[in-house]
Amino acid sequence: MNDTFELATLGVRAGQIRTQFNEHAEALFLTSSFVFENAAQAAARFSGAEDGFVYSRFSNPTVSMLQTRLAALEGAEVCVATASGMSAILATAMALLKQGDHIVCSSAVFGATVQLFGGVLSRFGIETSFVPGHDVDAWARAARLNTRLFFLETPSNPLTEVCDIAAVAAVARRSGATLVVDNCFCTPALQRPLELGADLVVHSATKYLDGQGRVLGGAVAGPRALVMDGVFGFLRSAGPTLSPFNAWVILKGLETLALRMQAQSSSALALARWLEAHPRVARVYYPGLASHPQHALAMRQQKSGGAVVAFDVKGGREAAWRVVDATRLISITANLGDVKSTITHPATTTHGRISAEARAAAGIGDGLLRVAVGLEANADLCADLARGLD
Ligand SMILES: Cc1ncc(COP(=O)(O)O)c(C=O)c1O
Repeated sequence: MNDTFELATLGVRAGQIRTQFNEHAEALFLTSSFVFENAAQAAARFSGAEDGFVYSRFSNPTVSMLQTRLAALEGAEVCVATASGMSAILATAMALLKQGDHIVCSSAVFGATVQLFGGVLSRFGIETSFVPGHDVDAWARAARLNTRLFFLETPSNPLTEVCDIAAVAAVARRSGATLVVDNCFCTPALQRPLELGADLVVHSATKYLDGQGRVLGGAVAGPRALVMDGVFGFLRSAGPTLSPFNAWVILKGLETLALRMQAQSSSALALARWLEAHPRVARVYYPGLASHPQHALAMRQQKSGGAVVAFDVKGGREAAWRVVDATRLISITANLGDVKSTITHPATTTHGRISAEARAAAGIGDGLLRVAVGLEANADLCADLARGLD
């Protein structure tokens, strides 16, 4: 499909391949391999002389449909799907880095990303400097001659810190580094990092792309040279590719992405305003609020504030756990991006495995709660939180 279609149309239509049966909905190809006409065709498919499917670790028609649709949504040349968001980040790092290289990463990224960069990759001689993502000068100061990768998440998880993608992209270019943006929180429905100068976008498709909390998945989107030669090469050899079933579920999720993001985002804004006015709430973190430190930037860079609201409850961990335990509607679960609203206490769950010092440096206090707003009526969500707050 060409670029003239709008995002809502691309989400429903882009990338569909029809078989000879002319099915209307996308077909699910649950097959691990594909049959060849003869030995010559097998050889040609393996060597790449002939296009076509070989084995589902390399490619699969259902996965291809998802990849094409997501590439269209992100405005990317190509996209490859992965088994999870973390395998998208791992595959990107493995494609771009070698022993002795250096990463500059925003300190307020997902806990497992901190573990992967600061823990796992450090064992292979790759060092990471964590910087306050909103401070553009800090990126420039941290860059070294061996810096190859800049990595950021915006808005961040869970504090919704907003990084200036265009400004960090300019620093990355000057430093000879590749800028990778985790676009999990906004999705292309609200923010398109490649248009702002990022080199690659990574996704946890487990979140809003699926949208209904059903499957794990991930993706890397960007220019062909970076995605196919590097990331796809690693995936093909190492194997953390996406299952066709999960691809099919996420593909159907993309059909409602634009609508869901719009609706969940406006409900999140209403909830953030309600929380901000609540006497038991010390602070609310939501890019759509005028009180957010990067509100103006967020409104320039994003179509709206997104669906995640974080807030500090007065009274620390005990008071925060009381709010969690009093909920009857909002699910107590670590996932986000679902049409069912979820609540977490980051300090003891998603960010519980990082050191207390690293948590404090990232601004994740004991009273912090994160609500990922779904599609329930906003008044019901406020009432559910009021029970534990009041
Ligand atoms: C911003 C962000 N990036 C990456 C991930 C990892 O994704 P997955 O759980 O699909 O591996 C998450 C998971 O919560 C996330 O919130």
